Amino acid sequence: MDRSIADELLFEERVIRPLPQFVVEANLKPAQVAELREAATDDPLWYWEDAADELEWFRKWDTVLDEDNAPFYRWFAGARCNIVHNALERHTLTVNKNKLALIWEGEPGDTRKYTYFELNREVNRFANALRGLGVGKGDRVVIYMPPLPETVFAMLASAKIGAVHSMVFAGFSAKALRGRIADSDAKVVITADGFYRNGRVVRLKDTVDRALFDADSVESVVVVRRTGQEVDISSGRDFWYEELVRRERTQASTEVMDASDPLFVLYTAGTTGKPKGIVHAHGGYMVGVNRTFRDVFDIKPTDIFWCAADTGWITGHTAAIYGPLLAGTTAVLYEGHPNYPQPDRLWSIVERYGVSILYTPPTTIRMLMRHGTQYPESHNLTSLRLLGTVGETISPVTWDWFHKHVGGNACPVLDTWWQTETGMFMISPLPVAALKPGSVARPLPGVEAEVVDRQGQPVPPGKTGFLVITKPWPAMMVAIEDDPDAYRSYWDRVPGAYFAGDAARKDEDGYIWIQGRADDVLIIAGHRIGTAELEGAFVSHKAVVEVAIIGIADRIKGEAAKAFVVLGDDYDPTDELIEELKEHVRGELGPVAVVKAIEFRESLPKTSCGKLLRRVLKSEELGVAPEDDGDPDDCWSA
Ligand code: PRX
Repeated sequence: MDRSIADELLFEERVIRPLPQFVVEANLKPAQVAELREAATDDPLWYWEDAADELEWFRKWDTVLDEDNAPFYRWFAGARCNIVHNALERHTLTVNKNKLALIWEGEPGDTRKYTYFELNREVNRFANALRGLGVGKGDRVVIYMPPLPETVFAMLASAKIGAVHSMVFAGFSAKALRGRIADSDAKVVITADGFYRNGRVVRLKDTVDRALFDADSVESVVVVRRTGQEVDISSGRDFWYEELVRRERTQASTEVMDASDPLFVLYTAGTTGKPKGIVHAHGGYMVGVNRTFRDVFDIKPTDIFWCAADTGWITGHTAAIYGPLLAGTTAVLYEGHPNYPQPDRLWSIVERYGVSILYTPPTTIRMLMRHGTQYPESHNLTSLRLLGTVGETISPVTWDWFHKHVGGNACPVLDTWWQTETGMFMISPLPVAALKPGSVARPLPGVEAEVVDRQGQPVPPGKTGFLVITKPWPAMMVAIEDDPDAYRSYWDRVPGAYFAGDAARKDEDGYIWIQGRADDVLIIAGHRIGTAELEGAFVSHKAVVEVAIIGIADRIKGEAAKAFVVLGDDYDPTDELIEELKEHVRGELGPVAVVKAIEFRESLPKTSCGKLLRRVLKSEELGVAPEDDGDPDDCWSA
């Protein structure tokens, strides 16, 4: 992590209390929060069963939590449900029927709005079309799309018919897409001809064609017409979305799923090796997300909620789509770049739609801060009542800017800690909590977290250790696609606890301060990228014999990748080669893989058994002595 940020976190501990008016209006008052927290700590299963009772089930559970096959926990064992029933159909039978579910804005400025009734109708038509293509329960559907209304239709339509969606961020390359398609054995790929990003048209369908060359599992490709550009249509395999759904019925049956049947797979950088397909299930995910989303954001019937993260990441799944829809709120979705056409786009969206809750990664705030306060100040942002951040540590300076210039000093800034694996918010202040800028506050009711040493013992307040979750929680991943050992590895490090992979410390008040990843994962602009994936992209270039990647500080992106490269004998360490390598890695992984610096070396530091010592390179980079932990091969520290 950025050392200057770490220093700031250590030295600035301010407490900001909620405004009295905010407390008066909050759904959960401080006394209720305290009571809930205590009851949930005493009996977490009671707490989560109570959360489950708020939703509709086709059949209720026999057991709230089946621990027989731990760590493969089964939440709501024996229950039958479908998340789409709760996120959509349920609302069409209430006063929410004609309420806006989705307000979408494209980068060029076009907008589309859907009520719950209309969204349900679109999802049903797409569900029928997918069934017509032979997609059914358990089939994998890859969705390679930017945030479009059809992206939401595609996710919900897949879930409705019991298929498992696997979103791939539209900034990934053909090769990365290909790997994810192959790993999940996808039957259908849903994509768009292209989309708009920072004033440019990105050609998406071409990338899909490259990714599908020779891929045998994929039977059909559904293409949404977004930009109207010419694309190749392979007859018999590719279908225009509009033509496919035009004649479909607007009613569709909802597949009855077992609570632990998979809902989606989402690939994310693992501690080691290639990206892992994290699997979430219908029942537990909907219970955990529904309760935590509603409570953290204090959702009221009149809210307009905007999660400004891309739908391709877990934040987009939980906070842009499933969370708001489960809560019956109105969600805003934006296709494009925050700086387009100028750095006030976010603020103009907030003003135009009257957004009341804005949730965004700190990277976006840092990027917009750079352009000065005149941009937020030129808009009326008084509709905002709550702000949230996610994905990386927010420095107090960024926190203050967001709080003051966007929130007018009146909106709590909720820093939520969670992961692709956790599915739901885990550690976060509730809106009435006292806030400490830079801290993610305390675990939410029903969640138990600890900061421990290598032996799994809690460390004293103020000391850095490893963040673990000591009790199962309902939205936890249920599996890793085709890799039970990788799943188990999260639970092996500290017996009985889930090892999050983050370094953290806890202060005297029990507030948690995240210090960054404790493994070989980088968080670049809030996106999680494995050093192994980046290193793999480097060595696929003919000049590279060996490479080691470390994270270095970046003012805007928080963290950026630096590569130490050993070249083959026939290659010279030139500036041209640096540019060529950067381009090559971008081509291999997509624009998401930003390499900030490349340094050529004769050799790389290794342990006696040949394991790369990235932390030695990191210490050299920072100009500090390497941490001597006496156990250089320990997987906790390499
Ligand atoms: O290191 C933590 C960081 O993001 C990691 C999870 O990444 P991902 O699965 O992509 O999910 C990101 C969005 C939920 C964590 O292990 N992280 C997440 N939230 C925070 C954070 N770091 C500091 N503060 C946060 N609020």
